[in-house]
Amino acid sequence: MLFDILKSRRSIRKFQNKEVEKEKIDVILKSALLSPSSRSIRPWQFIAVTDAELLQQLSLCREPGPQFLADAPLAIVVIADKNASDVWIEDTSVAATIIQLTVQDLGLGSCWIQVRERFHTEQEKAEEYIRKVLEIPEQYSVECMIAMGYPAEEKKPYEENQLLYQKLHFNKF
Ligand SMILES: Cc1cc2nc3c(=O)[nH]c(=O)nc-3n(C[C@H](O)[C@H](O)[C@H](O)COP(=O)(O)O)c2cc1C
Repeated sequence: MLFDILKSRRSIRKFQNKEVEKEKIDVILKSALLSPSSRSIRPWQFIAVTDAELLQQLSLCREPGPQFLADAPLAIVVIADKNASDVWIEDTSVAATIIQLTVQDLGLGSCWIQVRERFHTEQEKAEEYIRKVLEIPEQYSVECMIAMGYPAEEKKPYEENQLLYQKLHFNKF
């Protein structure tokens, strides 16, 4: 049941030294392609990175960098043609979330790494750096990367008393 996946999901930043099977990668990527998007424009593209050297380079995209990415066996970089849709941020965020939930359902763990609006150096945006590393054409913006793999850390699910029920409203605010 989806609710069980939601209840157990936590961000995982430590991964076992174990490859993610191709069948699982295929399911994750297919789930991304099934994501809804505004006007069904589907402005996104997904880059699955398994090459250790590239993952190491991507882990340096920001200062301070997401060091755990260098030790992940797989990352999916979520990009979009921002000229194709004025709501590409929403579309990529939805797809990234669907990727994370699919990953959880497959017994893997993941963590979102923010790229948009983040900087590699004072002068260079993180997305410009990533574009160079992965040879992404200029027209695409990088929303985020999702690092994933078999978890090497255990995190407790949230307890009932940690849920912010005060943020819920019915009918009027
Ligand atoms: C939009 C967004 C951006 C995030 N960026 C990062 C990030 O750059 N680095 C990181 O380690 N975690 C990042 N996270 C993960 C959050 O830190 C994490 O979801 C939050 O602390 C709650 O923990 P949980 O996922 O275990 O419930 C991000 C999550 C979201 C939704």
